[in-house]
Amino acid sequence: MTDKYDAIFSGVIGQDYELLNLICPLATKMSRLVGDAVSDYAAHTTGNLTVVELGGGTGITTLSLLTASDKLNILSIDNEPVMQEQAKKHLHKWATEGRLAFCGDDALTALKNIATGSVDIVASAYTLHNFLDTYRNEVLQEVFRILTPGGRFINGDRYGLDDVSKHTRTIQDEVSGYFKVLTQINKLDVLEHWIVHLFSDESENHVMRESVALKQLSDAGFSIITLSHRLEVNALVTATKPD
Ligand SMILES: C[S@@+](CC[C@H](N)C(=O)[O-])C[C@H]1O[C@@H](n2cnc3c(N)ncnc32)[C@H](O)[C@@H]1O
Repeated sequence: MTDKYDAIFSGVIGQDYELLNLICPLATKMSRLVGDAVSDYAAHTTGNLTVVELGGGTGITTLSLLTASDKLNILSIDNEPVMQEQAKKHLHKWATEGRLAFCGDDALTALKNIATGSVDIVASAYTLHNFLDTYRNEVLQEVFRILTPGGRFINGDRYGLDDVSKHTRTIQDEVSGYFKVLTQINKLDVLEHWIVHLFSDESENHVMRESVALKQLSDAGFSIITLSHRLEVNALVTATKPD
């Protein structure tokens, strides 16, 4: 059943949202949770907040941020022009209002160009798991550097289960789900793309295993590190830069 939130997103993002919701409803749910976490943060602060989004894609997570609070000024980074062009089209209204700007650099390059201690929130969904682990480590160190003291990192993403056997079973169920949904609507090209991509997600130099990922945040200097809302291989992670 389509709720009000889905209706808003379908209206703004269109088919991209509807297809993602069909193939992987947990992915759209994670974007919503990222928005909720940003909304909670904003509720406890006064004045405008500077937000950097990593991997805006077609704009689903960005829209979740924009609707989370009207106090946010967002810089959305994505180095895939085809994706970012769609976000620019979908979210034109907010860009015109001056609440949203785009950067086409890769995440690490973009972060290196941002001043130390100048950003309140770095938010992201389903982007960091695509990074090579060494690149991700550098990105997290830059995220820590650009945040203000008290600033927050909020990421909804694929966090691999520490129990590897359970993780494998969960991925097997995930694959079955893709076959079921995508053969039903005869989208075999999309099915091929998702399965091929999954091999990259699951490769040893990409997978973000829960305990390793949380330690990586702690090593970067973060405190109050939480992992919540675990839904299969997906979870919401938040971390705070100490005052
Ligand atoms: C799976 S999409 C997620 C999009 C959106 N956040 C969502 O949840 O629907 C991941 C996005 O990250 C972007 N991306 C991947 N690697 C990147 C990098 N190194 N720098 C910037 N963007 C990157 C991709 O181009 C893609 O648009």
